[in-house]
Amino acid sequence: MKPMCGIVGYIGQKQAQNILLEGLRKLEYRGYDSAGIAVYNDGKLNVKKTKGPLSALQQLTDKDPLSGEMGIGHTRWATHGKPSDENSHPHMDEKQQFSIVHNGIIENYLDIKEELQEKGYTFASETDTEVIAHLLSELYDGDLVSTVQKAVKRMEGAYALAIANVMEPDKLVAVRLASPLIVGVGDGENFIASDIPAILEHTRDVYVLNDGEMAVLTQDRVELFTTDGTPVNRDMLHVTWDAATAEKDGYEHFMLKEIHEQPKAIRDTLAARLKEGVVDLSREISLTPEELKRFDKVHIVACGTAYHAGLIGKSVIESLVRIPVEVDIASEYRYRNPILTPSTLVIVISQSGETADTLAALREAKQAGARVLGITNVVGSSVAREADEVLMTWAGPEIAVASTKAYTSQLIAIYLLGLYLARVLGTQPEEQLLEVTEALPRLSEQVKSILEDHGSIRKFAEKIAQHENLFFIGRGLDYPVVLEGSLKLKEISYIHSEAYAAGELKHGTLALIEEGIPVIALATQQAVHDKMVSNIIEVKARGAHVLGLGLEGRTDLDRSVDEHITIPETLSLLTPVLSVIPLQLLAYYTSTARGINVDKPRNLAKSVTVE
Ligand code: F6R
Repeated sequence: MKPMCGIVGYIGQKQAQNILLEGLRKLEYRGYDSAGIAVYNDGKLNVKKTKGPLSALQQLTDKDPLSGEMGIGHTRWATHGKPSDENSHPHMDEKQQFSIVHNGIIENYLDIKEELQEKGYTFASETDTEVIAHLLSELYDGDLVSTVQKAVKRMEGAYALAIANVMEPDKLVAVRLASPLIVGVGDGENFIASDIPAILEHTRDVYVLNDGEMAVLTQDRVELFTTDGTPVNRDMLHVTWDAATAEKDGYEHFMLKEIHEQPKAIRDTLAARLKEGVVDLSREISLTPEELKRFDKVHIVACGTAYHAGLIGKSVIESLVRIPVEVDIASEYRYRNPILTPSTLVIVISQSGETADTLAALREAKQAGARVLGITNVVGSSVAREADEVLMTWAGPEIAVASTKAYTSQLIAIYLLGLYLARVLGTQPEEQLLEVTEALPRLSEQVKSILEDHGSIRKFAEKIAQHENLFFIGRGLDYPVVLEGSLKLKEISYIHSEAYAAGELKHGTLALIEEGIPVIALATQQAVHDKMVSNIIEVKARGAHVLGLGLEGRTDLDRSVDEHITIPETLSLLTPVLSVIPLQLLAYYTSTARGINVDKPRNLAKSVTVE
């Protein structure tokens, strides 16, 4: 899992503080639960850091500015340890000689921490990052570069690091493994950054570090090495993007960037929880098998897209765990006087963890004595703090109003939960669970392959952009997916659409099907495939123009629809992760074809903190 924090480093002749703060401001979209800087001056690395947005740090530095021409800065999206002043970066060793900022996860940090604790080191935070500062102090041999080389040999996991020390204040070191890092080359000044936008105002000439490489920066030089000391010759990259495009990694909108981040978000959400075909959540969920056995029903409560993930959660939990599940829209749940007992497990799903209706439902359920499990994407959010149990999605910050990567990560969290409960409660034969756990990690690559080939979706989007009404239909697990596809389309293209369980159309809505109306039909569920084809024929007979979305290798769908796109085959239970991708792209391209502000659609906000 890779947190999406931001790193900036500066060495030159100007005041570092303002350059670091400006750089961090450009990276705030990467994480915004805490921020900090360290600036070298007169034999000391002075640190200012605080929980909260960058503006909180700015208040500290406004009151008491840090002077100096070398420093590092960080904006954090918490993973290990809640957002707090202590857990904010930069971190330092006890002697206050090394200061570091870090993106990534040091997987073996507990081993290193224990070893250092035995040697008498004490730790001020809960982070994996702090161990690196102490490790550097322990290994220091008079040369920062060789000390860093020794330290990285001990570290497993992912890291992008910027490192300063007081013994060699003419130097900054950057080192990377599996977490992006670049070096910006200026005139009499050089920069480190996790992302190009942070430094674009100062230079467009950058070196992009590869895994296992480090850079040593002084005011006038940048040298690149591998972490075992071999010099690296790299061509400098001249960035031609404007700052706004750079923030989006070159994508035109955050939504498109986040759609493309899904393979990674899926991998990160699975990582460390699924090993050798076994799902283990015991480190995150404190409920004992005996306590889990006592639950006789599950309520899933959420809003919007998260509610759609909940609808899929119902099928997943009911089929794997065989416990009855009810799914509720949070704003309805509280007022329907739900039957809650200590043997009810209430699952709330919320990307932001701050949605007022979802929080109210969480509180109500707790008060009624139910146990609440929160699935959220934001460490330290209200849901994460108030739920009895928390299962994080590791999608990274989601900036676009329309949720995409958070949604697919919520689905992954639900599959993990279902598999874990099924194993602990023994509700399914091992072989059946194994089939699902083996198919899960393949989803990431399968999503990637859908993203690589979406020309026909784009063309279809351009056609529907001319319409004011359309339909989505699906059966079984395709039904919640079309609800999500329809919501996505409505919110960012302003086209009216209805999502229907395909078998329900003939009970009234079929009257609306007329010549030329677009119908998007999902047909990925084997068990109801033939029934779905009949429903498609029903709408086609009334003049609908049908886009069929089916599984690769099922040619019969091709014959019944006007246009046909496919997704790779997986277990029916897992198809929602794949089938939603073309629908997200459809919404995105329809929105851009209509010239709408995709990332900030009218009347909507990213976090809905009012009821
Ligand atoms: C739609 C969307 C919303 C959210 C809903 C809940 O694209 O993003 O429907 O899913 O407002 O938000 P969270 O998950 O933050 O509780």
